[in-house]
Amino acid sequence: MTTILGIESSCDETAAAVVLDGKTISSNIVASQIDLHAEFGGVFPEVASRAHVEAISTVVNQAMSDAGVDYSQLDAIAVTQGPGLVGSLLVGINYAKGLALTTNKPLLGINHLEGHVYSLWLTQPFREVQFPVLVLIVSGGHTELLLMTDHGVYQRLGGTIDDAAGEAFDKVGRMLDLPFPGGPNIERTARLGNANAYDFPRAKRDESYDFSFSGIKTAVMREVTVQPSGANRSKRKRRSEKRAQLRSDVSVNDVSAAFQDAVTDILVEKTARAAKAYGATEIFIAGGVSANQMLRQKMRKHSELPVRYPPLNLCTDNGAMIASAAHFRLQEGYHSDLDLEVRTMWPLSEKTYDF
Ligand code: KG4
Ligand code: ZN
Repeated sequence: MTTILGIESSCDETAAAVVLDGKTISSNIVASQIDLHAEFGGVFPEVASRAHVEAISTVVNQAMSDAGVDYSQLDAIAVTQGPGLVGSLLVGINYAKGLALTTNKPLLGINHLEGHVYSLWLTQPFREVQFPVLVLIVSGGHTELLLMTDHGVYQRLGGTIDDAAGEAFDKVGRMLDLPFPGGPNIERTARLGNANAYDFPRAKRDESYDFSFSGIKTAVMREVTVQPSGANRSKRKRRSEKRAQLRSDVSVNDVSAAFQDAVTDILVEKTARAAKAYGATEIFIAGGVSANQMLRQKMRKHSELPVRYPPLNLCTDNGAMIASAAHFRLQEGYHSDLDLEVRTMWPLSEKTYDF
């Protein structure tokens, strides 16, 4: 039995959790910065790292006291080492280093994307996993299609060549004047809309397992924003690029529904095809966008394979998924040096951890 503290600060959530055996959540605290970033319509790195500094010790202390454990009872301290925003990551990493040093516990630098994968190990009741499984990670920063052949072993089949799926939701949300983040707000307005009212392109309908979302984003932009014309064109164009004006005759509900329909079509088609081609036993979807109900439903409809997704509160960033991933790495004898460095770019591969 392991007891692991997981710390996550790669983007806009300061989070910590205590997880038993990689599967059972003992405590899970998430301090979201959404309200802070909503004001700007997006995440500002400088604002994010400052907020992490302010929140981190309270969040970690709360996770420890909710779990009712003290540091001597921990088997390891895990922290997101990357990928993510450098200033934000450093806050978690430095805090974890300090804890590891003072408590003399092993420190494990964990890949954030792998954390999302292991959020699937935290569903209750836990069902054993039969490898290989096809994993689709869809978050604000990443869209990755992976074949997971064993614990910690990933074959990358494809990913986005431009915007991440969540990023596309956030950008379209901003065009529609919806609050940040776009994903959940587009899902909410889409429920009241007609997905057939617009026909947005399903880009990259090819044999590859790569995705592209910038084409849909541009198509939505053309449809919903004011098109400058006449003598003032260049001046107005400059202004519209800065902050596009939403046309008054646009139905936000219909655009949301049609956009969500297009994005989920693209994600589901390639994921189902890859799962079949690679003989996966199951499809796993993880990351913020995996909270989307239409994505979940379409995936189930489109594939004969079982589909797993995390409970809603574990789709977006949290410390529990980091602690869970660390449990499985600890079994393999992995731990980091106290001088571990931030890794802002760090793809999942067959050898994600070189130890
Ligand atoms: O995994 P996450 O918390 O952060 C990253 O690691 O990037 O994902 C956040 C992303 C945001 O882009 C947000 O708009 C999207 O997940 N998201 C959703 C939904 N809930 C969150 N997208 C679509 N539908 C949702 N219900
Ligand atoms: Zn994430």
